[in-house]
Amino acid sequence: MSEILRVPVGLGARSYDVLVGAGALAAAQSRLPDFFPRGRAIIVTDRNVAALHLKTVSDRLEAAGLRADPVVVEPGETSKSWDGLEHLVDCLLDRNIERSESVIALGGGVIGDLTGFAASITKRGVDFIQIPTTLLAQVDSSVGGKTGINTGHGKNFVGTFHQPRLVIADMDLLASLPLREQRAGYAEIVKAALVGDAGLFGRLEAAGASALEGDVLSAAVAAAVAFKAKIVAEDEREAGARALLNLGHTFAHAFEAEAPKDAIRHGEAVAAGLALAFAYSARRGLCPAEDADRVAGHLRAAGLPDGPGALAHGDWVAERLIDRMRDDKKNRDGRITLILARGIGRAYIDRDTDETDLTRFLETLLK
Ligand SMILES: NC(=O)c1ccc[n+]([C@@H]2O[C@H](COP(=O)([O-])OP(=O)(O)OC[C@H]3O[C@@H](n4cnc5c(N)ncnc54)[C@H](O)[C@@H]3O)[C@@H](O)[C@H]2O)c1
Repeated sequence: MSEILRVPVGLGARSYDVLVGAGALAAAQSRLPDFFPRGRAIIVTDRNVAALHLKTVSDRLEAAGLRADPVVVEPGETSKSWDGLEHLVDCLLDRNIERSESVIALGGGVIGDLTGFAASITKRGVDFIQIPTTLLAQVDSSVGGKTGINTGHGKNFVGTFHQPRLVIADMDLLASLPLREQRAGYAEIVKAALVGDAGLFGRLEAAGASALEGDVLSAAVAAAVAFKAKIVAEDEREAGARALLNLGHTFAHAFEAEAPKDAIRHGEAVAAGLALAFAYSARRGLCPAEDADRVAGHLRAAGLPDGPGALAHGDWVAERLIDRMRDDKKNRDGRITLILARGIGRAYIDRDTDETDLTRFLETLLK
């Protein structure tokens, strides 16, 4: 077992730890019985993760004197829906869950968001523990308490803030993750560094492609989680600073909305969006062009898209992307709000974006 890093999320009575490292599950074993007073632990997971990791987690629970009671749902975004929510809440009620019991979310962001939402409303709220199994879930979705589902109106349009009681980010669970998923999750680590941790970006840049492996990755996950924890502690409900974590995401959501279903991963769109946010900041004279070059360079080194042209679906139209950006949740008074940067690690919320200028920037870039 390598060193387990403990990252506290300071939210008063709702504070919790994120345990990061290879072997974090074993390290958490002694803490588990407190969450399951009836001696059984309901584990929500998806079919893929169940086949790969349910036994390991169940064995660990058994070693802690607990009985695992799994609920296995279909993998993918379709489970993050009204139907998926109803099914899961029914499964919890069928098991006669009591308010004193917690639920475990074992899986990627889909399972974490769905389980967290179900936990927050079942019997007016039960606790939950996150055991994230994708890199994206470890560095981003399992921390901060945003839960939810998608509806016909959009992604994550219905949900709650419901913090987990514990997050166990065991790097061993990532061994089965395809490289493409690993890289997509890594984009969120780069994002955290670019928003507010220039030192972390420097370390990632120095490590190049090996930042996606071993102890360098564990340390980077812990640093990204610590950065997110700091922002969440400051602004739990996204009234201000938390919006910075959307760096690259306004562009990314536009690419995802315009691309054919499943053509690009969220993290790939985020990577292209990060490159764009810096390129546009440099064009506006807000940040040095050299910083934008460094961002694109590191994304390439990590095997991630360094702009829209490098995304799998390359047929983008500036006007249509702008149309999509007008739907963004961050917008205010009908104006596009972007997260831009004054340099690496110096992101800020920009409410002065001129649509004509942004359209021209995209048109030139997409030529
Ligand atoms: N709550 C938040 O703050 C937040 C933040 C970012 C993203 N999200 C949400 O997260 C979701 C995306 O999460 P994701 O990228 O983890 O997707 P996901 O949960 O769909 O997982 C991706 C795929 O990998 C499989 N998988 C999971 N773990 C695996 C493993 N260890 N080995 C092999 N395969 C594995 C899954 O079965 C699935 O097919 C989106 O719905 C997004 O909205 C939420």
